Amino acid sequence: STAQDLAGRRVLVTAGGTREPLDPVRYLGNRSSGRQGVALAEAAAARGARVTLVAGAVEVPLPESVTVVRVESALQMRDAVLAAAPEHDVVVMAAAVADFRPAAVADHKIKKTEGSDEAPVVRLVRNPDILVEVVENRGAGRAPAGQVVVGFAAETGDADSSVLDHARAKLARKGCDLLVVNDVSAGKVFGRDDTEVVLLRADRADRADSVGVAVPAGSKTKVAEAIWDEVVALIHELST
Ligand code: C5P
Repeated sequence: STAQDLAGRRVLVTAGGTREPLDPVRYLGNRSSGRQGVALAEAAAARGARVTLVAGAVEVPLPESVTVVRVESALQMRDAVLAAAPEHDVVVMAAAVADFRPAAVADHKIKKTEGSDEAPVVRLVRNPDILVEVVENRGAGRAPAGQVVVGFAAETGDADSSVLDHARAKLARKGCDLLVVNDVSAGKVFGRDDTEVVLLRADRADRADSVGVAVPAGSKTKVAEAIWDEVVALIHELST
């Protein structure tokens, strides 16, 4: 039987992509399938946690063993996450939150003008960074003692810096405790069931030799188990 090492822990997981409305029938979306977040929620429930899953657009069935909050846009996801986070011991942000949204949402369907080739220009504005806000709220005391916050990063390497360099910088910028790093250079993560990640801990990332914990390629369920193993270790270290 599965170890109940998350028994009594309240866990919040975000999953899926956000949809940023343009008008009543259109949105800007992304290719997230929600598989990793759903696998994380299921695995946490199996290990005894009380799980809240904030789900955007997902292509997989939602587990029945968890409390589900459905959202569409990044702003809705933000409201749901910031409202729930203070009641959760662990927050794992696996969702692909859109960085930008249309500046205005039209009340009516945007129509083409007959007899004209004109097309509208969509102006975008930045969305708030929900992960950063969760960490800020924790810093302001709006979180249970010892709350653990986990972020995700899909990174590519370039001539100047490696995937790991980008990830270390992101970990520092976001202020979370653990970053789950996906190397998406090969473009092989979205929508697939197998994945390969590196787990970077904030309390170790500043060490020169720190390369994180490499999780071997496997199903998103296997990867979810490895993430929870690391979170359980973190919970125990933070409470001693
Ligand atoms: O900055 P980037 O999008 O790479 O960061 C990814 C991490 O930040 C993920 O954990 C994602 O859920 C979270 N995020 C967020 N709000 C945003 C953008 C990303 O919470 N607006």
